[in-house]
Amino acid sequence: MYRSENCGALRLADVNKEVTLAGWVQKSRDKGFMIWVDLRDRYGITQLIFDESRTNTDVMQLAKSLGREFVIQVKGTVIERESKNTNIPTGEIEVLVNELTILNEAQLPPFTIEDETDGGEDIRMKYRYLDIRRNPVKNSLLFRHKVAQEVRNYLSNLDFCEVETPYLIKSTPEGARDFVVPSRMNPGQFYALPQSPQTFKQLLMVGGMDKYFQIVKCFRDEDLRADRQPEFTQIDCEMAFIEQEDILNVFEGLTCHLLKKFHNLDIEKFPRMTFEEAMTTYGNDKPDIRFGMKFGELNAVAQHKDFAVFNSAELVVGIAVPGGATYTRKEIDALIEWVKRPQVGASGMVYVKCEANNQYKSSVDKFYDQNDLANWAAATNAQEGDLILVLSGPANKTRAQLSALRMELGNRLGLRKPNEFAPLWVVDFPLLEWDEDSARFHAMHHPFTSPKPEDMHLLDTDPGKVRANAYDLVLNGNEIGGGSIRIHDKEMQALMFKHLGFTQEQAQEQFGFLMNAFQFGAPPHGGLAFGLDRLTAILGGQETIRDFIAFPKNNSGRDVMIDAPATIDDAQLNELSIMLNVKA
Ligand code: AMO
Repeated sequence: MYRSENCGALRLADVNKEVTLAGWVQKSRDKGFMIWVDLRDRYGITQLIFDESRTNTDVMQLAKSLGREFVIQVKGTVIERESKNTNIPTGEIEVLVNELTILNEAQLPPFTIEDETDGGEDIRMKYRYLDIRRNPVKNSLLFRHKVAQEVRNYLSNLDFCEVETPYLIKSTPEGARDFVVPSRMNPGQFYALPQSPQTFKQLLMVGGMDKYFQIVKCFRDEDLRADRQPEFTQIDCEMAFIEQEDILNVFEGLTCHLLKKFHNLDIEKFPRMTFEEAMTTYGNDKPDIRFGMKFGELNAVAQHKDFAVFNSAELVVGIAVPGGATYTRKEIDALIEWVKRPQVGASGMVYVKCEANNQYKSSVDKFYDQNDLANWAAATNAQEGDLILVLSGPANKTRAQLSALRMELGNRLGLRKPNEFAPLWVVDFPLLEWDEDSARFHAMHHPFTSPKPEDMHLLDTDPGKVRANAYDLVLNGNEIGGGSIRIHDKEMQALMFKHLGFTQEQAQEQFGFLMNAFQFGAPPHGGLAFGLDRLTAILGGQETIRDFIAFPKNNSGRDVMIDAPATIDDAQLNELSIMLNVKA
C-alpha cells in the first residue's frame, strides 16, 4: 500500500494515528535539528516533521537530501502542531516521520510550482505536466470534470442518449477550414476531422434517437484567440419533434442547473434579444449585459449641422462612460489613440463631457450648441459626470468599433465582474451573410438551418433580410452555445444549397447522404452545441480557455510539449501517396 491517506485528509481528530503518505516535496525547511517538509498531492498539502530527538539518524540524514519535487513516501504518526496554519485544512496537524523512502528524485523544475509561478506561458506549456501540479491549473481541470459530469447526469436524466459519431469524415466547403487526414488505403483521398458532428446528429434523428448528446472533440483550422483552440470540445445536442421554444427551455434548464450548482444562483428566466436588437444596442451579437453603456444612435440629433464628418456618415453612435467627465485631456487622447489602433480601426472619436448644471464641453463645440449636446446626452442616457464618446462611419464597422471600446471600458472600469453571471439568448439571426472575399452569401450558422417561414418570400428578392430559426446562448459577453431548428425536407434543403451557390451536382456530391436520408421520413428536429471549454472557463470566472484544457495548443496551433505538428519521413509519405513540394 503506497498510502493510507492522501495529503489533504488529516485533521486534529486523526492525532496519534499511524499513517503512510506519498507525494511530491513542495518545499523543505532545514533548521539542523528539525526539518519540515510540505508534502503535496492532488488533494492538498500535509506538513511532515523530522525531529532529531524523535526521528532516527538515517531518516534524518535522508531527509536532508530532499529536493523540490522529489517523490517520496513516509510513514509516521499524526501529531498536533505547535504553531497552527489556519490557511489550509490540514494546518492543525503534522506527521512526525519515522520512515522515509525516496520513490524518485527530481530535477529542479524550470519554474516554481506555486499558485503564482515565475514561469511564462511558453515554458509552462513545454512542461505542462509540471504546470498541472499547480493549484490554478489542477483546479481548473477538476472543475471541468465536474461541469462535464453535471451535464452528463442532467441530460441523461432527461432521457438524452450519448452517441459517439466518427472522427474520420468528409471535408465540406462550408464553415472554417478542415484538418485533413490522408487515407493510406485510398491513395489521393483524404478524410477530414469534424468541425462538429452536425450532419451525424441529424442522421441520428432520422434514425429515431430523438434526444442525443455527446461531449465531443471538434476540429477547426482557424486563427486562434483566447477563446478559440483548433481542437475543442462541444456538448453537442439534438432533439426531434420539437420547436425552437422546446430547445431554448431544455438548455436554459441545463444552464440554470449549472449556475445553481456551481454559484448557487437562481435565475428565473433568461432574457431574449433579437440579433438586430443586440447589434443596435450593443454593436455585438454576444453582448455582455452585466453593464449598461448601451448605444445611443445620434443621426437624428448630430447630422445636418455643420460637421461634415457626421453629415456624410451612415451611422453616428455614442456611449456614455460613467464618471468619465473627470478624465484628463491626456486620458481622453489615449482613448482616441486606442480606437485608432489597426485592431479597432476608427478614424477618430468625438467626446462630450457632461458637467454639473447641465453644462456640456465637447471636442466639437464649434458645430454644436448646449441644446444639441443635451440631445446627445438624452440619446445615450448620459448623466451628470459622464463622458459621451461618439464614433461615426459605415454602420456595421462603426458598431463593431464602438462595441470594442465598450468592452475595453467595461474591463478598465471593473464592470465585467467575474463572479456575476448574466446569460441571455440571442435569437432570430439572419439566415445568410454576405462574404466579400467570395462575393456570395454564406450560411450564417450552417446550411442546415431553417429559414423563418414568414421570411421565405424574401429569399429571392432580399436574401440578406431572411431570418433563421437560429439562436445563441450568451454568457457574460461570450458565445457559449449556438444552434438552430433544421431543415428536414429534401426540397427545402436543395433550395438552400442553391441559394448558397451550389450547383445541384455539387450539393448532391457533398451532402447527398443527408438529402437522401430526408427522403426516408426525417422528423422535424433541431438542437444546439455548447462550447464546453468556454462554458467551463466562464463558470470558473475566466475568459481564457487554455487553463481549462489539459494540453492546449499555443497561438500558432503548436503543441510545444510534444512538438507537433512535425514532418514525417519519406517512407511514411510514400505510403500515403503524398508528394510534398514544400519541405518544412
Ligand atoms: P458553432 O459553430 O456555433 O455551432 O459551435 C458551437 C459552440 O462551440 C464553441 N466553439 C469553440 N470553442 C473553442 N474553440 C473554438 N475554435 C470554437 N468554435 C466554436 C462555441 C460555440 O458556441 N453544429 C453547430 C451547433 C448546432 O447547430 O447544433 C455548431 O458547431 O461556444
